Amino acid sequence: MKELVELKGLTRRFGKKTAVAGIDFALKEGEFVGLLGPNGAGKTTTIRMLTGLYKPTAGTIKYHGRDFFENQKEIKGYIGVVHQYSNLDRDLTAYENLSLHCILHGIPKDERKKKIEEALEFAGLREYRDRQVKTFSGGMKRRLVIVRALLHEPRILFLDEPTVGLDPQIRRSLWDLIVKINQLKKMTILLTTHYIEEAERLCERVMIINEGRIIADASPEALKKDLGRYVLEVFHEEGIEERLFQTKEEALEALKNCKETCKIREVTLEDVFLNLTGRRIDV
Ligand SMILES: Nc1ncnc2c1ncn2[C@@H]1O[C@H](COP(=O)(O)OP(=O)(O)OP(=O)(O)O)[C@@H](O)[C@H]1O
Ligand SMILES: [Mg+2]
Repeated sequence: MKELVELKGLTRRFGKKTAVAGIDFALKEGEFVGLLGPNGAGKTTTIRMLTGLYKPTAGTIKYHGRDFFENQKEIKGYIGVVHQYSNLDRDLTAYENLSLHCILHGIPKDERKKKIEEALEFAGLREYRDRQVKTFSGGMKRRLVIVRALLHEPRILFLDEPTVGLDPQIRRSLWDLIVKINQLKKMTILLTTHYIEEAERLCERVMIINEGRIIADASPEALKKDLGRYVLEVFHEEGIEERLFQTKEEALEALKNCKETCKIREVTLEDVFLNLTGRRIDV
């Protein structure tokens, strides 16, 4: 697979604060990659540099081997982005919101109607096309924002915490939409999240970011395998002790010899994060 975007030594400081501390990675065409990290890890700052909203303090970004900042106008056409706080015009209808995006992106007038109708269909919002967005649920708004980002047919879609604040059932329906975009439209996706389950379920490759640095980069399976497949949780008065095992048999053996209350569960990316940083991702 061809490399779509490659960054080297990417750094962004705000005064004395280093938000992104020299990161390197490349994304291949069609890949679905997660950038997983806690609040303040540098996820949004990374996305903002990759989409041209922030200038890096240092480092390079190349799309198809060409420098982003030297060819920004053209490369921006490659990029679809759903920002963490992306919004729609509440007083406009779904159709009008999509139409506005087409105008802003210079999509020729005779192509707009077809593209908008396809987008509404893809998002499952066809019957709501003429309703004002202010009548939409949180999940419907998110679906509309996501398909809006695809109207100009980008090569890569950046999704910054696309399901934050949504309840679990709605989150799942958004996952289906996002997977469909990757699979059916063969779209390269970089998704940021601090939800462990989201990264595990959706992404074929996960980069873990902490304090502006990428501290792990592999498939969820590979990240977990390095640690051990099973966790034995031992409930002590002073807290839970977690022991890691490669096989279920080993964990069961240890469980048998356990005098305290014990429980076996499978390793998650939360354990990987804890092992790498000494803390949990969501606190
Ligand atoms: N415009 C800014 N001015 C000053 N500091 C900033 C600015 N933007 C981000 N930061 C700081 O840089 C660090 C990284 O922020 P960033 O928003 O990239 O993190 P994040 O991983 O997206 O977090 P969250 O999960 O909360 O969205 C944080 O400590 C943040 O306070
Ligand atoms: Mg953020």
